[in-house]
Amino acid sequence: MFDIQDSEILPLSMEHSFWTWSAQGKVAPIPVKRAKGVYFWDVDGKRYLDFNSMTMCVNIGHGDQRVINAIVEQARQLPYAGPPMTTKPRAILGKLLTEITPGNLDHFLFTLGGADANENAIKLARAYTGKHKILSRYRSYHGASAGAMAATGDPRRVAWEPTTMPGVVHFLDPYRYRSTFHRTNPDISEAEFSQDYLNHLEEIILYEGPDTIAALLLESVTGTNGIIIPPEGYLQGVRLLCDRYKILLIADEVMSGFGRTGKWFAVDHWNVVPDLLTMAKGLTSAYAPLGAVAMRPEIAAFFNDRVFQSGLTYNAHPISLAAAIANIRVMQDDHLIEHSAAMGQVLHRMLTDLGEQHPSVGEVRSIGLFGILELVRDRQTKEPMTPFNGNSPEMVALRKNLLEHGLYLYTHWHTALIIPPLIISEEQLAEGFAILDKALAITDQAAKS
Ligand SMILES: Cc1ncc(COP(=O)(O)O)c(C=O)c1O
Repeated sequence: MFDIQDSEILPLSMEHSFWTWSAQGKVAPIPVKRAKGVYFWDVDGKRYLDFNSMTMCVNIGHGDQRVINAIVEQARQLPYAGPPMTTKPRAILGKLLTEITPGNLDHFLFTLGGADANENAIKLARAYTGKHKILSRYRSYHGASAGAMAATGDPRRVAWEPTTMPGVVHFLDPYRYRSTFHRTNPDISEAEFSQDYLNHLEEIILYEGPDTIAALLLESVTGTNGIIIPPEGYLQGVRLLCDRYKILLIADEVMSGFGRTGKWFAVDHWNVVPDLLTMAKGLTSAYAPLGAVAMRPEIAAFFNDRVFQSGLTYNAHPISLAAAIANIRVMQDDHLIEHSAAMGQVLHRMLTDLGEQHPSVGEVRSIGLFGILELVRDRQTKEPMTPFNGNSPEMVALRKNLLEHGLYLYTHWHTALIIPPLIISEEQLAEGFAILDKALAITDQAAKS
């Protein structure tokens, strides 16, 4: 029973697995057999170019033997020790993370993934400030557990309301392409644009009452909700508002961290140091599950004589920590942050060229290897290829076509995201763009030229 034929993987999984984010009768999983570099193969030997780093997480690429060896070695030496104990990887990883995280962040609480990192960051902020409200943005995803889901602004939250965590207030993102405030003056300067969104945020802070707000949680660069890159001055302004009103700033870098944007962390582009920073995905490049909350020393010190009321059986799991250490070393040894920044320029050029050639491309955005195409029916009106939170035959056909041609990427409503492993080369980017270029004929047919 423990050894099955490749051909049995799919039918047996369909019989017994319960799938997330899916109607069970509609799933069509790819039975994956192996993966190397920027490619993976299914059981029939079909090769896919991975333009989504699987789940936006395999930052160093697939099958890196250095990380695999570290995991095997740790499993041999000590696969597990309890949360109140410490281990060699725990000692090393904290030091390593202190070196690469922004500013004076120097204490780390280890979790299993992004959602529980955000849950714990919220608890830390509430306990530290003695306040309870959390501000977060509408175009955000922070995880599927109750608190992280409440903080999530996008419609994935709505299915679980009103039973999600109380106390979250959402505000608008500085999303220039579809800015409600700037329909009649789209050419406003970047500084004024930033200021308008900071004013909007400050107004909400005042209405909610600064004395009730524990933290402001945001994705430094928004991921699935649109690769929304903060305009110059915005994150610095958010930091100032947080300081003014004694609100902790939590940067969710679960997707944007570990080289994705061409820096270790996205906040580094604007020299903003959050009070708490959450990470997962690229922390181990998904070779093992791990998340973490980085915090300022004064937040850690606050709990010197107070108990932090939270825990996880797998807190600081040695195998995951060993994977993280090896993963960070790979990033350093192979200069992947620099490579991501350089390939990011190439990606930006390719996106721009593609956008110019296809009437269904309304806008392209990217920072590092974090890119997006917004597909529209009409460039003038910006009518999206799918209605908000909906689907359309064109997007279904586009997805199908890309997969048939061996390009794996993530589409979200009317957008296509390009989030490849950081090791990708210019040739491999071009290989994916050639497939995209042909496939966009499908959406072009539905667009006014
Ligand atoms: C920005 C962000 N935060 C949090 C999460 C949740 O992470 P996890 O799925 O590991 O719980 C995700 C997952 O996609 C994410 O993109």
